[in-house]
Amino acid sequence: MSVDIVRTVAELRERVAGWRRDGARVAVVPTMGALHEGHLSLVRAALTRADRVIATLFVNPKQFNSAADLAAYPRTEHDDAAKLATVGAHLLYAPDGDAMYPEGFATTVSVSGVSEGLCGAFRPGHFDGVATVVAKLFLQTGADIALFGEKDFQQLHVVRRMARDLDIPIAVIGCPTVREDDGLALSSRNVRLSVEERQVAPRLAAILFEAAGRMVAGMPADNVLSEAQSAILAAGYEKVEYLELRGEEDLNPMQRLDRPARLLVAAWLGQTRLIDNVEVVPRAVATE
Ligand code: PAJ
Repeated sequence: MSVDIVRTVAELRERVAGWRRDGARVAVVPTMGALHEGHLSLVRAALTRADRVIATLFVNPKQFNSAADLAAYPRTEHDDAAKLATVGAHLLYAPDGDAMYPEGFATTVSVSGVSEGLCGAFRPGHFDGVATVVAKLFLQTGADIALFGEKDFQQLHVVRRMARDLDIPIAVIGCPTVREDDGLALSSRNVRLSVEERQVAPRLAAILFEAAGRMVAGMPADNVLSEAQSAILAAGYEKVEYLELRGEEDLNPMQRLDRPARLLVAAWLGQTRLIDNVEVVPRAVATE
């Protein structure tokens, strides 16, 4: 079993045009490769909502903050293609850097508001890079729907805002975070953790879920946040970049749990930066 691979926009458009002639609904799942079950869950969700599913693989230099991080990013196209074939994706679009950003490329898509704060505050330019490449992928594929993981919750908001603002006719669908049995959110960066760090890593998710439960039980959000922050450091994380309660729908900062929210975190474990988030739904809303 194998998945067809195309590398140019022309080939991609020809494939999609053929599907369109047959009346097919098309989905796109953008990725940077090193595929794991989190990525594959998006492809599976796409297959239930569309007739044809394109996975994209492009390690986007514009969204990395350091050359070292970009160079260290895992590149496993052969294995990725095999995994995509197993789950039943119809096409892998894996453009070269030059095809995506040819000589003279000069355009940046920049989303304000939802891209500010959280990861945006610690990774300058990151969401410009994401918005620019995802806008291109949406326009190149011409897909009807696009699937993104809630794992990168701020990214999901940035991409949604971008598609709406630019009138790109695509529905952006968020899918739940896939976790290891011990709760650690799957990430291409988890392979960088040492054996000892890997044992500490799942504490982050455990502390988030615990904190969410406390807020739902009525404890003041600021107390819960400061206790959770201390717990993350006590567990062995070196640094908490942010730990914040934000609105589920608008990503605005929240002081009290008076509407559906997300608790979002970024923290460093050794040389690895991990992010995670959990839903926090106040009781009155949950039982409505
Ligand atoms: P990447 O990190 O490869 O992730 C691709 C998609 O997989 C994103 O939508 C991400 O949220 C989702 N994903 C990652 N881990 C997941 C998990 N544990 N559970 C569910 N979904 C998960 O995100 C990017 O690439 C890039 O920024 C991209 C959007 C491709 C633009 O370059």
